[in-house]
Amino acid sequence: MQYPYQIDSAEAYQKAWQKSVEEPEQFWSDIAGEFVWKKQWDKVLDWNFREPKISWFAGGRLNITENCLDRHLEERGDQPAIIWEPNDPAEHHRILTYRQLYHKVNQFAHVLLNNGVQRGDRVCIYMGMVPELAIAVLACARIGAIHSVIFGGFSAQSIADRLQDAQARFIVTCDGAFRGGKDIPLKDVIDDALVTCPFVERVIVLTRTRTPVSMIKGRDVWWEEEIHRVETMGNPPVPAVEMDAEDPLFILYTSGSTGKPKGVVHTVAGYMIWTTYTFVNVFQYQPEDIHFCTADIGWITGHSYIIYGPLAAGATTLMFEGIPTWPDAGRFWDIVDKYRVNMLYTAPTAIRSLMSFGLGPLQDHKLDSLKVLGTVGEPINEEAWHWYHDHVGKRKCPVVDTWWQTETGGIMISNMAGITPEKPSYATLPLPGVQPVLVDENGQEITGNEVSGNLCIRFPWPGMIRTTYGDHERCRQNYFATYDDLYFTGDGCYRDENGMYRITGRVDDVLNVSGHRIGTAEVENAINMHNGVVESAVVGYPHDIKGQGIYAYVIFSHEISEADLTRRDIAHTVSRIIGPIAKPDKIQFVPGLPKTRSGKIMRRILRKIAEGETTSLGDTSTLLDPGIVQHILEGKIH
Ligand code: PRX
Repeated sequence: MQYPYQIDSAEAYQKAWQKSVEEPEQFWSDIAGEFVWKKQWDKVLDWNFREPKISWFAGGRLNITENCLDRHLEERGDQPAIIWEPNDPAEHHRILTYRQLYHKVNQFAHVLLNNGVQRGDRVCIYMGMVPELAIAVLACARIGAIHSVIFGGFSAQSIADRLQDAQARFIVTCDGAFRGGKDIPLKDVIDDALVTCPFVERVIVLTRTRTPVSMIKGRDVWWEEEIHRVETMGNPPVPAVEMDAEDPLFILYTSGSTGKPKGVVHTVAGYMIWTTYTFVNVFQYQPEDIHFCTADIGWITGHSYIIYGPLAAGATTLMFEGIPTWPDAGRFWDIVDKYRVNMLYTAPTAIRSLMSFGLGPLQDHKLDSLKVLGTVGEPINEEAWHWYHDHVGKRKCPVVDTWWQTETGGIMISNMAGITPEKPSYATLPLPGVQPVLVDENGQEITGNEVSGNLCIRFPWPGMIRTTYGDHERCRQNYFATYDDLYFTGDGCYRDENGMYRITGRVDDVLNVSGHRIGTAEVENAINMHNGVVESAVVGYPHDIKGQGIYAYVIFSHEISEADLTRRDIAHTVSRIIGPIAKPDKIQFVPGLPKTRSGKIMRRILRKIAEGETTSLGDTSTLLDPGIVQHILEGKIH
């Protein structure tokens, strides 16, 4: 497949960026013309950030699976679409060609229809990293159902919250999932979640771990039996439902600074074009390259760069069920050599964790197939960047540091491999279509170079968030109300002397732990559910591997005789309520919290203490009880 929109030089990048700013409609309609439509659009762009209203390619009709599957059948039907590497290296891998994937997506689309799923219905997918997860996602898209994938590490309570918010009546899950040395009983977790979700009508269960499960009569069915039913019908193909360009494609829940995760909604055409365009350009994908994105499909990175971007581009995408350190810390390198992977896209946390094992696990690996390395999810420190560049890429692979968010749908600021310059710890330059703006607290734009500010985006791009599911006002409040006529990212940012961007981290109450977004308010709410807890405050602190760790200050209702046991109980509560990813790393019991006279917790002070600061804590004179700070300092957990 040729990509007429592939940028092949620094000058071409400059030109493309310029055109995307000066003639955005022409720019994007040229690119959109490279996709398969059932009906041409009437209007390229209609927008305002006040409501917000964002509409790309209105009137256009299409189905994203025709772009990801059908259109490739003739030219590359026998090319691997998905290569799947199991958790256990002793188990056989699987390869699905485009033709096989097409067939399986059709079959499962039929299963969904047979089970009563209709266009517009929300289908929750809670599975491990097996090919059937990608198949389920694409099958939903084929019939116009809205998928909402939930990461396999979330608890029953988190699932129930999301099911209720989305009013999802259908679930696709597995008996269990393998992750490293663990089996996670996914169906059990679903059963617990469904206690409070009586509106769920159907649960389709794939066999993976053979963990015993209870199947509820009238509600639960086996994936394999349902497929068998479709086979006996003679496997009729399922026509791709004609969708409107702006129909929702999926909901993906993500954390913000308030308590409840919000359902970010992406729509069919804009998301498809954005993920494909960014995939082809940032990684400089060439036909037959093998792209290995190590993210879980439960997060946006997996949606955009394991499934949709690569498949729409006709690429071969590698999906890995396990973790980088099991059975040993050479697992990624084994996979790279086994399949001769050309592009490796992973998170700084994984890189730092692998770095901590030294160079031993890299020995005996050639890694000579690698052409491009990528990182995503959190700021990468220079040491990790150099380790990745020198020891994994052997100094010959460009490293693309890709900054983006669940809400942006795809990569926003990044170098393009081998095309635009790289700079360690810098995401570098905006992609065509992206107009970054730095603003101060008052919303004043900060112009010029060598300046820092809050990162905003001035103009719509096709892959941007359209709404938060069921609550448009929340979308406005969160992203469009802080600064007039700007999308606010929640990130702080520095622009260097050459206009390159370096993301410095969140400026709101959102933590980034191992590249996973967690709201401090969410963790506090969970801690406060423990029956001995009166109040808590959660902040982040620098963590060598995870980037950020979770530090919790907790006021307990009574004398604690066994502090460690109580800490474990509290951590367990958080794990039950949210999931293990949100467990605090450190819990300090405090007699009070630093509050202003109006009752607001001064998180700035708590953050500084957690970071190890002892003296310059800033102005504490406005505190109701300044003495509390000394108390907290003395009890600091190291
Ligand atoms: O703070 C930024 C950080 O991750 C946040 C978005 O998280 P999420 O929606 O979960 O998406 C993660 C995968 C796209 C951002 O607000 N972030 C993401 N990529 C980078 C980053 N911070 C620095 N450098 C990056 N490359």
